[in-house]
Amino acid sequence: MSKAIYPGSFDPITFGHLNIIKRATKIFDELYVVVLNNINKKYFFSIDERIEITKESLKNFPNIKVESFNGLLVDYAKEKGINVIIRGLRAVSDFEYELQLANANRSLNENVEILFLMTDTEFSFISSTIVKEVAKFGGNISQWVPKNVENAIIKKISNNNV
Ligand code: COA
Repeated sequence: MSKAIYPGSFDPITFGHLNIIKRATKIFDELYVVVLNNINKKYFFSIDERIEITKESLKNFPNIKVESFNGLLVDYAKEKGINVIIRGLRAVSDFEYELQLANANRSLNENVEILFLMTDTEFSFISSTIVKEVAKFGGNISQWVPKNVENAIIKKISNNNV
């Protein structure tokens, strides 16, 4: 059975991520969507919230497991015995960062292969940051995120009064 990992911060998951996930599940029998921490980021949602929101958003997708890991991506991959990591590229601007991540991960574990899928153009400008910023100023985000994500963002903003 072919397996792959789709890692990310998912703070929160957007239709751009879903675009990659849907396409990856057509290539692999099982996809592990893993919620990780980028230590350079200050997160809007806690790790538990990110996991819960991601699980809810993917509940109708077959052959997906949502997990989290507090450590290196390559260690998670080793623990699972999975050698393929999927990443999405939205624009040329993603390339440099992704190249660095891919090379660092391959240097840590040469058995891992990183595969890139180009995010479909209609989602190429979406980022979790843009979604949160637009929501904070009362803009419509329903075309960029699933309903449960929209509700979670609005709830968090009103609870935090931000
Ligand atoms: N559609 C829309 N948006 C997308 C997208 C897509 N297909 N793919 C990525 N994005 C956006 C995300 O929304 C996010 O936006 P934001 O910066 O506004 O929040 C941005 O692109 C990057 O997010 P992500 O892909 O989650 O990367 P990241 O930099 O937050 O985290 C990890 C990358 C979690 C995979 C990496 O930090 C990691 O592996 N951490 C574990 C520790 C580790 O191994 N570190 C060493 C790495 S060499």
